Amino acid sequence: MKNLAQIFWLILVLNFAAASGAQQMSIKLPPDNAAAQVKDGSGDDTVRRNCTICHSTDYIVTQPHLDAMHWQAEVQKMINVYGARINESDAKVIADYLAKNYGPQERKKEEKVGGGKR
Ligand code: HEC
Repeated sequence: MKNLAQIFWLILVLNFAAASGAQQMSIKLPPDNAAAQVKDGSGDDTVRRNCTICHSTDYIVTQPHLDAMHWQAEVQKMINVYGARINESDAKVIADYLAKNYGPQERKKEEKVGGGKR
């Protein structure tokens, strides 16, 4: 009987030690790669907040430069096809930002600066 009580206490003490040893872990992810960072500009926060949940901004910066209509369709595709939960006003801010910073006008500028090489 005495032995049983000792075993019982031993199990209790071991359990307590295991429980107090379990600490909360935090994981720090590396930052997005530098080439994939979206440009600063009005609406960039809205883009980062809504468009990096499922994938990095690689998908945005590596796209061919689209016009406003196509960027708007791209944002709608994320919502309708992939289920992105983006409200209407954010969707508009995002489409405007993308058309402005990754639109056909920007491509012309980059071609001039880079001498047409990409
Ligand atoms: C709910 C998840 C989700 C969110 C949020 C999301 N995307 Fe996507 N996105 C996807 C998936 C899935 C793909 C397709 C991946 C593949 O084909 O490998 C994709 C692909 C893309 C592509 C590549 C072209 C294409 O049409 O496949 C672009 C550009 C893109 N996303 C832009 C955006 C932008 C801009 C936002 C913010 C408005 C956004 N995504 C938010 C899921 C999401």
